[in-house]
Amino acid sequence: MSKYLIVGAGALGCLYAAELARAQQQVYLLVRDTQANIQTRELAYTRIDGTQESIQVQALDTPAWRQQAPTWAATFCGIILATKAQDALASVQALAPQLPPQVPVLLLQNGMGSQQAVAQYLGGQHLVLAASVTEGAYLKAPFSPVHAGRGVLRLGAFDPEQTKAQDAAQAWVRTWPTAHLKCIYAQDIHPWLWQKLAINAVINPLTLIYNCPNGELMQHLPQVRLLVEELQTLLQSLAIQLPCTDLQTCVQEVIQATAGNISSMLQDQRAGRPTELAYISAYVLACAKQVGLTLPAHVRLYQQAQACLAIKD
Ligand SMILES: NC(=O)c1ccc[n+]([C@@H]2O[C@H](COP(=O)([O-])OP(=O)(O)OC[C@H]3O[C@@H](n4cnc5c(N)ncnc54)[C@H](OP(=O)(O)O)[C@@H]3O)[C@@H](O)[C@H]2O)c1
Repeated sequence: MSKYLIVGAGALGCLYAAELARAQQQVYLLVRDTQANIQTRELAYTRIDGTQESIQVQALDTPAWRQQAPTWAATFCGIILATKAQDALASVQALAPQLPPQVPVLLLQNGMGSQQAVAQYLGGQHLVLAASVTEGAYLKAPFSPVHAGRGVLRLGAFDPEQTKAQDAAQAWVRTWPTAHLKCIYAQDIHPWLWQKLAINAVINPLTLIYNCPNGELMQHLPQVRLLVEELQTLLQSLAIQLPCTDLQTCVQEVIQATAGNISSMLQDQRAGRPTELAYISAYVLACAKQVGLTLPAHVRLYQQAQACLAIKD
């Protein structure tokens, strides 16, 4: 039995907690509560086939982690960071003084920029792994995760040159205890992160400005094509080769496969929560700027998305 710490009791954090606990692993879920003790929490889990199950995990908050960590932290086989991108660095900083460098930290965040911030903060001693996740999950109530779409957790060393992190990524996949959530090793995770970023950079802000489910973007195909063309120019300038053979086809396939979904960005906006726009559109535009490109369609879309979110600058 291995011991996992999952940071963030949101949709993905609770999904992974539920499935790891079902696979008889010891799961500790780091929550934002204020009770500084470790407590048993019930997850009301809805599996992909619609069946429901009540699953027990251990929940704790940051003060409890700090209290226990000196004698305890090194016994974890891995830490899964399941916060939104904008919370990733702060959540690692809260744990960091008691984060043993030999325990791998797996980053699940969408978009890019938060992984770099965490890796830079932790420095070269820590084993930082990054993932591209295509599972679909949401919370129907606190601690009530619903597995809504089957996907894959693809992970690799955030720094592919760091041999120890590569070894840790391979070991993570080799020892992954549940077949219900697929886990695959990527020798270079960056093309996968970029592919997810590119897809998100088209779909998420478009669904925000049109206030529509993903599938309705098929009514805006000329705009989708233009946005993808600009991304292809950027990827070429950055010498990034995506795993998919054709990004245009790939984006349209995702739109069709997720036609009924409300994108996470639109869900967040509707719920009045911060979005990951800065780690998606703004990150793309910052990369373009670095290589001397302007991406007019993305600039316009970013401005429209900001207006929807009532962001001032
Ligand atoms: N859900 C999906 O289907 C899916 C699929 C692929 C990728 N992703 C990506 O995975 C990441 C997580 O997504 P999600 O949907 O699970 O988000 P979410 O439902 O918003 O969950 C994030 C959770 O992290 C908690 N959190 C933030 N900072 C924390 C801290 N310092 N300590 C403890 N908990 C903290 C949040 O608490 P508060 O609510 O109190 O802020 C929230 O419960 C995102 O980057 C998302 O884009 C999600």
